[in-house]
Amino acid sequence: MNNTSFSTWLEEIGPIYLTEAQIQERVGQLAAQISQDYAGKDLVVIGVLRGVLFFMADLLRAMTIPAAFDFLAISRYGPTEQTQGVVRLTKDLNEPLRGRHALLVEDIIDTGLTTHFILRTLRLHEPESLKACVLLNRTQRRIIDVNLAYVGFDIPDYYLVGYGLDFRERYRTLPYLAKFEPD
Ligand code: PRP
Repeated sequence: MNNTSFSTWLEEIGPIYLTEAQIQERVGQLAAQISQDYAGKDLVVIGVLRGVLFFMADLLRAMTIPAAFDFLAISRYGPTEQTQGVVRLTKDLNEPLRGRHALLVEDIIDTGLTTHFILRTLRLHEPESLKACVLLNRTQRRIIDVNLAYVGFDIPDYYLVGYGLDFRERYRTLPYLAKFEPD
């Protein structure tokens, strides 16, 4: 990125879809619900890199109960509908899950294929319980049903950037979510 494109990068994105205040209000509500549901339990919050970074950090810090946390990283085999669900773990967990309560956290769920794969993988670690929490639930392209215990926002089929979501690795660091229409 040269100096010109760096100074004009925000001009490329569309209108704000969710403001920082709207996101933080909802994150606070989710954190309160999770804190209530897991009070007194040994909770491990698991995020899938990289888009989940900001949501997970805000959620954990808004919670009023202690929780361990860990990350998974994945890569996908291909962009087609046949191969996009074929996922490979590139970083496994460090935290043991056996007998503990695991909560998978995702920034966005689209087809559901990634979350389905991750939940199946996490079950092999034999947690006492396993649930999923997603900030943005985009259902229009859902291929496989996933059970979501906590949903921040149900969203239409918009391409969004910010708050962890990128377009070619740009815009992740914005504190709000904006619409983006790539060429
Ligand atoms: C996003 C999101 C999920 C996945 C959901 O990750 O964080 O992991 O896509 O899509 P699906 O429901 O269609 O499987 P992305 O591939 O954008 O990677 P990133 O988190 O590194 O941005």
